Amino acid sequence: MTDKKKKILVIAGARPNFMKIAPLLREFRKYKTRFRVNLVHTGQHYDSRMSDVFFRDLGMSMPDIYLGVGSGSQAVQTANLMTAFEKVLIKERPEWIVVVGDVNSTLACSLVASKLNVKVAHVEAGLRSFDRTMPEEINRVVTDSLSDALFVSEQSGLVNLKKEGVAKSKVFFTGNVMIDTLLYQMPKIEKSDILSNLKITPGEYGVLTLHRPGNVDEKKSLMEIHKIIRAITSRITLVYAMHPRTKKMIGEHGLNRFFSEIKNLITIEPLGYIDFIKLVKHSAFVLTDSGGIQEETTVLKIPCLTMRENTERPVTIKEGTNILVGRDPSKIIRAFGGILKGKNKRGKTPGFWDGQAARRIVKIMAGF
Ligand code: UD1
Repeated sequence: MTDKKKKILVIAGARPNFMKIAPLLREFRKYKTRFRVNLVHTGQHYDSRMSDVFFRDLGMSMPDIYLGVGSGSQAVQTANLMTAFEKVLIKERPEWIVVVGDVNSTLACSLVASKLNVKVAHVEAGLRSFDRTMPEEINRVVTDSLSDALFVSEQSGLVNLKKEGVAKSKVFFTGNVMIDTLLYQMPKIEKSDILSNLKITPGEYGVLTLHRPGNVDEKKSLMEIHKIIRAITSRITLVYAMHPRTKKMIGEHGLNRFFSEIKNLITIEPLGYIDFIKLVKHSAFVLTDSGGIQEETTVLKIPCLTMRENTERPVTIKEGTNILVGRDPSKIIRAFGGILKGKNKRGKTPGFWDGQAARRIVKIMAGF
């Protein structure tokens, strides 16, 4: 008897991918008779704090296929991802691959699949920062141009894809899968004891995350960040969950002592999903250069200062709690002062950020 089920490979590689695939895998399981789904973990992120903890926190089973690709320069990492994934694809021959977000694994696997005539579904399509100095922007543009189904998380994505001439029939506004996970995990998040572990009080601390090459790779920008942290910590405690890339760069530039001497700065290892969201949910504000945290703070109604000149998620500025502050200390300190005085944006939750995005996506895929 031939297997009539559609074979699908869902791809994840780096930290921000795991919370996006969790609700998709849950939904695919509801269509057991229609789909045969396997999870491929490329191993772009491999530290237990950047990967394994998310599987535990999100209740996901271990990947069916692990590529173990690891780190490297942009070209080396992308090439290694492609070489490893091509072997899998030739063996597995799925009908579709599902990629999420904008990391190197997203781009590499899409490229391999489209050349082997395997259809690509891109979840979180259409986002554009219009800043080609960011590797993620190149990943977004190329992945979207190769995709056969584009699932969009906010209205700007529809506008961008239309301008780029993507056929309307391939584009679906389905909402934000990252918010599916946020809402689904809320009961567990509330139970995290990270605040008491760190001995901090709700509303009396800020959260800092930084990892963009543009912010952390050069000594000059790390010195500017140091100045900003000093100014903020003179008024409020700051909890800094340090990304491995930033830790490495601070070490390479000989700045370890410089950062460890700052009073009121609590530097910790990267947290798992549950603890991190609990930390954000009860913070006074977040200072970040992450993409996803701009969205999570918008839904949690926590003021977010984004240390970038642009964002591919404009709805978080138009409707949410996000403010772009770049790396200009005076701008950041002004915005931070406003937050302390309670003059922050209240914001509203964007359309379709309602916990049902994965349900919409999988239903559409079942109809293909
Ligand atoms: C990647 C994504 C970025 C995402 C971020 C979240 C790309 C181009 N970038 O950036 O969009 O926001 O993940 O974290 O895909 N490292 C470890 N352990 C790990 C992973 C990385 O120590 O498990 C260190 C390595 O020294 C590595 C560096 O971090 O060289 C950077 O890792 P990489 O995967 O190249 O990109 P990220 O900066 O993490």
